[in-house]
Amino acid sequence: MSLSSKHLLGIRNLTKEDISLILQTATQFKEVLQRPIKKVPSLRDITIVNLFFENSTRTRISFELAEKRLSADTISFSASSSSVSKGETLLDTVNNILSMKVDMVVMRHSASGAPHFLAQHIPAAIINAGDGINEHPTQALLDAFSILEKTGGLEGKKIAIIGDIMHSRVAQSNIYLLKKMGAEVVVCGPPTLIPKYITEALGVQVEYDIKKTLEWCDVANVLRIQLERQNQVLFSSLREYNLAYGITRRLLDSLSKEIVIMHPGPINRGVEIDSDVADGNQSIILQQVENGVAVRMAVLYLLADRGQ
Ligand code: CP
Repeated sequence: MSLSSKHLLGIRNLTKEDISLILQTATQFKEVLQRPIKKVPSLRDITIVNLFFENSTRTRISFELAEKRLSADTISFSASSSSVSKGETLLDTVNNILSMKVDMVVMRHSASGAPHFLAQHIPAAIINAGDGINEHPTQALLDAFSILEKTGGLEGKKIAIIGDIMHSRVAQSNIYLLKKMGAEVVVCGPPTLIPKYITEALGVQVEYDIKKTLEWCDVANVLRIQLERQNQVLFSSLREYNLAYGITRRLLDSLSKEIVIMHPGPINRGVEIDSDVADGNQSIILQQVENGVAVRMAVLYLLADRGQ
């Protein structure tokens, strides 16, 4: 079994079989990560460059760790300390790095479509680690893996994605993946943070009432308010957002059932989620981070296998 694509640019272009293969392979790598010796030789002699043109904590460390666990040779690159700050273009930067015989590129960029552009111009396999407001495919895969692990399946599961849907690549990738795998998806947030035609475009239901949404769902994936991507006022204040849509202990205690709480990070504590919920026993936020390493190992392994 192999993936249908040479690159991982987004979930949109993956098949259901691709997603299942990645999740099954990640299960095997999660088992490897429980062993005393967590390293396997699968990517020996493969060279991977991590190109981060935008800040990251979880995704970058997770990819670097996944590459090391697979015995790949890795180079990490930050735009702020590179010749990009002297005006070098994306294509020149990548071509210079590739001339040093690099096999795979993991890239995060603030411009939507940047990894797709690269994939048309260079021979190496590209993995999208988040592009603008477009997609964050490995986040959606690790979210799906975590839901599967916690609840036993994706088919028929009721998943709510709550908050800043408008600016969220995590929301978009999650919606593509969950719909392909047969889950029901509702997006919830203030009308100003939900794209107008999302039901027609992506086949999800929209709900503006947070209590009703939480009563409906099995799992709530709570998103960060992305103030850095908002160039106009979309709600009156962070305090008011917390009062209307923040996930609080009181709100969870008022429900008739116990739901699973997820967040991709970084968290704005006291805005979209309160600390006692983020750190509480319904939260699987740190399991999501843990699972990210196994999922990224699976993606790297399957793409390297396809390239050989
Ligand atoms: N979830 C996520 O992408 O986090 P980072 O921005 O820290 O990588």
